[in-house]
Amino acid sequence: MSACTLALIGAGSRGDEAYGRLVESGAVDAAFAAVAEPDAGRRSSFAARHGIPASRCFADWRDLLSAGRLADGLLVCSPDGAHFEQARSGLGLGYGVLLEKPMSNDPAECLTLGDLARERGGVFMICHVLRYSPFFGALKERLDSGEIGELMAIDHCENIGYWHFAHSFVRGNWRSAAGGSPLVLAKSSHDMDILLWLAGRDCSRVASFGSLSYFGEARAPRGSGTRCATDCGIESSCAYSARAIYMRSRGSWPSNVISVGQGIEDIEKAISEGPYGRCVFRCDNDVVDHQSTVLEFEGGVTAAFSLSAFTGRISRTIKLMGSEGEIRGDMEKNEIEIARHGSSRRRMIYPGGASGSHGGGDLGLLRDFVRAVATGDSSLARTRAEDSVQGHLMAFAAEESRKAKLVVDLRAYEAGLRARARAR
Ligand SMILES: NC(=O)c1ccc[n+]([C@@H]2O[C@H](COP(=O)([O-])OP(=O)(O)OC[C@H]3O[C@@H](n4cnc5c(N)ncnc54)[C@H](O)[C@@H]3O)[C@@H](O)[C@H]2O)c1
Repeated sequence: MSACTLALIGAGSRGDEAYGRLVESGAVDAAFAAVAEPDAGRRSSFAARHGIPASRCFADWRDLLSAGRLADGLLVCSPDGAHFEQARSGLGLGYGVLLEKPMSNDPAECLTLGDLARERGGVFMICHVLRYSPFFGALKERLDSGEIGELMAIDHCENIGYWHFAHSFVRGNWRSAAGGSPLVLAKSSHDMDILLWLAGRDCSRVASFGSLSYFGEARAPRGSGTRCATDCGIESSCAYSARAIYMRSRGSWPSNVISVGQGIEDIEKAISEGPYGRCVFRCDNDVVDHQSTVLEFEGGVTAAFSLSAFTGRISRTIKLMGSEGEIRGDMEKNEIEIARHGSSRRRMIYPGGASGSHGGGDLGLLRDFVRAVATGDSSLARTRAEDSVQGHLMAFAAEESRKAKLVVDLRAYEAGLRARARAR
């Protein structure tokens, strides 16, 4: 018998391929007891693999939640715009809730969820998987040990990778800020959370710059068409060829996002007919393709954070600058270098256990959630909802700053949101 039973809303890439597979592999002491997923193929495939009876499989999440509490914990892994209502309803039923980031794509709703978490107690965690990765865990440990003295500044880059950017933010689900979340929230709420965690103090001011400079019709190369598989004359030499991206990842992410079937014909069909076969210069995307944000924390610690589509590798690279030394890290290489000022010696650390998605972060997070739900001890959680709100506000404030060309005072920003919510 498992320590904890789980209900899942949204059996997609995160719900099924990340958390579902971890439970299936036995790495986490839990079992799925119910699922809500609108896509019939995904729903039945998930239910069959987890042995969930038909009476506990739902096309509509409202039916799952109106059936009462069917499990100990609820995983909310649906698209961003659905998170708020689903998490709030789940908390109301007494579920321990694990909510995918972002908490909501509305900053006022993030505040409401944080307030609810504080008022209700219980287990309510956000999927900020990076806090659980051995890489960031080791960085935080070295920083807190005082090895580089007092932290002065952070330089952090999220290198999204050109083909990953094309998949998710040009052709895919996160391509529109108007219909969803701005890039700095969708992709980088994790990074804001990590910066807040590393700085170890509240963020006071935010300024940000960025634009959509490349992925639009004005940059379409001569000879390109509307779809890679049908009318493009340069497909074989294009870095963004859908055929190249999805054929080489057949059987895994991101290919498994565009088609349940993973045969060659399934992928050909998906790129011939579906959204993921569109030319990257002729999509309906509006999110920025690069953005730089400057943050000030209390006590004068500063951080510069860049996110960009225009990188070959998918990685996070970071430099922590202290009064007595410097720590440099590359998450993809799982490599940390520590140098003390005045010494030519370099100490290298290769954090252990860094296997699996998000450098092992998915596994650590799900294990903690299951442990917290099974024991009822929310203090076991490293990513409590009430602590995650500020990182989200930093991302919203960055977008506000970018659009309005202003420096945003975070405390005043939060006060404004609360005042507007009261006036409604
Ligand atoms: N923690 C992380 O590192 C991380 C990484 C990627 C995505 N995410 C977040 O996870 C969430 C899911 O992303 P994904 O990549 O799994 O997307 P996905 O599209 O692969 O999966 C979402 C699933 O939800 C289903 N769905 C759609 N509308 C629904 C609704 N109203 N109720 C219930 N289910 C619904 C879809 O059919 C799909 O199967 C998003 O909020 C995303 O921002 C988090």
